[in-house]
Amino acid sequence: MNNFVYWAPTEVIFGKDTELQVTAAIKKFNGNRIIIVYGGGSVVRSGLLNRVLEQFKKENIPYKALGGVQPNPRLGFAKKAIEEAKAFGADFILAVGAGSVIDTAKAIAHGVANPEVELWDFWLRKQVVERSLPVGCILTLSAAGSETSNSSVLTNEETGEKRGLSTDFNRPKFAIMNPEITYTLPKEQITYGIVDIMMHTLDRYFTPTKGNAFTDEVAEALLRTVIHYGEKALQNSHDYEAMSELMWCGSISHNGLTGLGAVSDFAPHQLGHELSGKFDVAHGASLSTIWGAWANYCYEENPERFAQFGKKVWGIEEEDTKKCAVRAIEKLVDYFKSIGAPTCFSELGIGIQDEESLRDLARRCAFYGTRTIGSFKVLDEKAMYEIYKIAN
Ligand code: NZQ
Ligand code: ZN
Repeated sequence: MNNFVYWAPTEVIFGKDTELQVTAAIKKFNGNRIIIVYGGGSVVRSGLLNRVLEQFKKENIPYKALGGVQPNPRLGFAKKAIEEAKAFGADFILAVGAGSVIDTAKAIAHGVANPEVELWDFWLRKQVVERSLPVGCILTLSAAGSETSNSSVLTNEETGEKRGLSTDFNRPKFAIMNPEITYTLPKEQITYGIVDIMMHTLDRYFTPTKGNAFTDEVAEALLRTVIHYGEKALQNSHDYEAMSELMWCGSISHNGLTGLGAVSDFAPHQLGHELSGKFDVAHGASLSTIWGAWANYCYEENPERFAQFGKKVWGIEEEDTKKCAVRAIEKLVDYFKSIGAPTCFSELGIGIQDEESLRDLARRCAFYGTRTIGSFKVLDEKAMYEIYKIAN
């Protein structure tokens, strides 16, 4: 087990009607003038936004609501919102929505607190976040885990770059999670959420670090839970038990717990981000598209690890390590197919890519020859190209 620091400070307020505790939560973290961020309208249609605004009105808390965050949230929206938040004198940012909304709220918080910095420079790692405004959220989709994570992912729409920023300043102060709010999700969003939740654990599970029994057990239990309740959620999005399990797994999967004591990999996430950056596809869909190709390319690095995944998560009884590893990969790819997630480029809807397009994806993913990705198997630009080719 490697050394680690575990710091997951977000206060989780979980369960039915918890959105009615939002003003109390904001007061606890000294919010007085609130910017409320939301997406393309699902929270308007569901009535959630109204329930939230009613509380602000009743308690005379000054607020300004800014809607219109798109999936694969854009830098341009965040920058405009920062100007509005500064003009309003905001001291707290509340996200009412899913990962894209929460990530935008984090970006607004950094921008307001650091007016002298060009916002994208934080994502380019040219600047380090050293202060921010507090952020709280009311989660509407179990997927990205942004409600308790230390990261924020933005897309620079001018360059087509999609980049993540990890910093402890990205940890929300509180996360309100009412599974009933997710009842209105369309099936495809539940599917992409299931994939993303699994991938946050898998991108930590496939690690070069040896021996980490408790963390492994936590990860394997989470994966089994998501597989089981994911199917139930897809059968009935009003199944409170299933939606609750997904919601809690979504947060635990990405708050750091499932990878403690080990080096994480996250290559599939990086490969997927290029697909979203270039083709604007849903994050979860990009991950299911790439995972099988990544796994087939990498598993020989440590087939025992894939065999463990097969035995503990899928219950595969196969003594031959390599056979068990291959079956484990097939199992997950088949599961993705069974829940309607794409597993190759044509299923993703971007068609078959030509040679130059595949090379372009690899170049972008390698940040134009300046980085490798992954740790389970370290991948250079050529390896990235090979993986895109398998997924094609
Ligand atoms: O915009 P609205 O109208 O609200 O509709 C959204 C959107 O179209 C809809 N939706 C959300 N909750 C709903 C709902 N529709 C009906 N009922 C509800 N209760 O779902 C659509 C997708 O929303 P989005 O926020 O994009 O989804 P998700 O939570 O999957 O977030 C994806 C983004 O998060 C990033 C991804 O890269 C992507 O940009 N990630 C963020 C991470 C983090 N900050 O820690 C980690 C992840 O790995 C991921 O990279
Ligand atoms: Zn993800």
